[in-house]
Amino acid sequence: MVQKITQSLTGKRIVLGIGGGIAAYKCADLTRRLIERGADVRVVMTHAAKEFITPLTMQAVSGHPVADSLLDPAAEASMGHIEIAKWADLVVLAPATADLMARVTAGMGNDLLTTLCLATDATVAIAPAMNQQMYRAVATQENLVTLKRRGYPIWGPASGEQACGDVGPGRMLEPMQLVALVEEHFSEGDLAGTSMLITAGPTREAIDPVRYLTNQSSGKMGYAIAQAAAKRGAKVTLISGPVNLSTPANVARIDVESAEDMHQAVQAHAALHQIFIACAAVADFRPAHIADQKMKKKDGHDEMTISLVKNPDIVASVAAMTANRPFTVGFAAETQDVEQYARGKLAKKNLDLICANDVSCDGQGFNSDQNALHLYWPAGDKPLPLASKADIGNQLVSEIATLFNASK
Ligand code: PMT
Repeated sequence: MVQKITQSLTGKRIVLGIGGGIAAYKCADLTRRLIERGADVRVVMTHAAKEFITPLTMQAVSGHPVADSLLDPAAEASMGHIEIAKWADLVVLAPATADLMARVTAGMGNDLLTTLCLATDATVAIAPAMNQQMYRAVATQENLVTLKRRGYPIWGPASGEQACGDVGPGRMLEPMQLVALVEEHFSEGDLAGTSMLITAGPTREAIDPVRYLTNQSSGKMGYAIAQAAAKRGAKVTLISGPVNLSTPANVARIDVESAEDMHQAVQAHAALHQIFIACAAVADFRPAHIADQKMKKKDGHDEMTISLVKNPDIVASVAAMTANRPFTVGFAAETQDVEQYARGKLAKKNLDLICANDVSCDGQGFNSDQNALHLYWPAGDKPLPLASKADIGNQLVSEIATLFNASK
C-alpha cells in the first residue's frame, strides 16, 4: 500500500545550510523528505561540506543549483546572498559543526552561509553534529548557551555511536526527526494571530554604582508562560528583568533592569499586543537617590537609612489604558490570606484576571521549578494545582486564551 504524504510544508521556503561534517550525507534524504511535503528547498554549502557530499547530488535532489560562494559573480547574478536571505521562511543549519556554530555565535560573515545567517530575518534552526568531545568542549557549550539565549532553536544532537567510533552526544538528528521539527515550526498552533506581552523576573533598584535592591524571582514562571504561548503560535514579546535564562524559541526579548525601565518598555509595547501578562516581581519601591559613588561606611555610624520612593504600578497603568487596552493579567505573590489579597488586587488594579501565587509553601513560587496558582476573575475562579512551571504555563495560557476570546 502506498502511504500518502501530507503536504504540510506547501509553499514553505527553506534554506538548508550544510556544514562540513560526516552527517552531511544525510542531507540528500532530508532534502527529499522536505520537498515531498511541499517545501521549496535551496541548498547552501560551506566549502568543507563539499568534501562530504557533492553539490551535484544536492542540486539533483533539490532541483536548484547549490550556492556555495559569496564571491561568485554568476551565482550573485542569479540569486544573490541577500536575496536568498530574504527569500527564506526558515534556515536549517544541518549538520551544524562546532566551527559553523562558533562562527554564527561570533556574528562572522566569512562565507556565504554565515553571511546569509546574518542577513536573514527568518528563524535559523541549528542541528548540531560533531564528535562528542568537541560537543562537550566548554567553547561549544558556551556558544550553545549564547545561541539559545538569542532564541535560535537547537535541534538535537542525539547521543550514540559516532562515525569516529566514540560514543556520546553529537549525532545529528535523523532526517525524519528534523522534518518533524520543521513541521512543528510551521504548524499554526491554536494561538496563531494572538499577541502577548509578558513581563518576567525581578527588577534591580540601584542604591549606588555597585549595590541594588532586588528579590528572589528567577524569571522561570514568566519564561515558561512565554514558551508555552510561542509554542502554540502566539506572537510573544517578553520584557525581562535580569535573569539567567535562555530566550524561548520564537520569542522577542527585551532586557531591562529597574522597575522604571520595565514600565517604559511596557508602555512602549502594551498597545501593540492583545494580552498583557505581568508575571515580573517588580520592586514596589526604589531608593529616592542613587549615589554617584560607592557609599562608604562612616565611623561611629552603626545604622544607615535609605529612603525609598514608590515605583510606578506597571500592571495597573496598563489596565488603566483607554485606547487599545490589552486583556490584562496580573499575579499576586502572597504569604497569607492569599484569596483575599488576590481578589483585592484584581479589583484595585482593574485586572481581567489575577493569578494568586502562595509563595509561603516550600517547592513552589520564587526560584522553584514548580508552581501552583489559583486564578480569580470577576466571574469565576479556578485552581491550577502543583505542577512543573512548564505545565502551569501551558494551562495558564489556555485559561487566558479562553477568557480573552470570551471578552471580545
Ligand atoms: O520568577 P520565578 O522565580 O519563577 O517566580 C515566579 C513569581 C513568584 C515571581 C511569580 O509567579 C509571581 O507571583 N509574580 C508576581 C510577583 C509580585 O510582584 O507580586 P505582587 O503581588 O507584589 O504584585 C502584583 C502584580 O502587580 C504583579 O502582577 C506584578 O507584576 C505587578 N506589579 C507590582 C508592582 C509594580 N510596581 N508594578 C507591577 O506591575
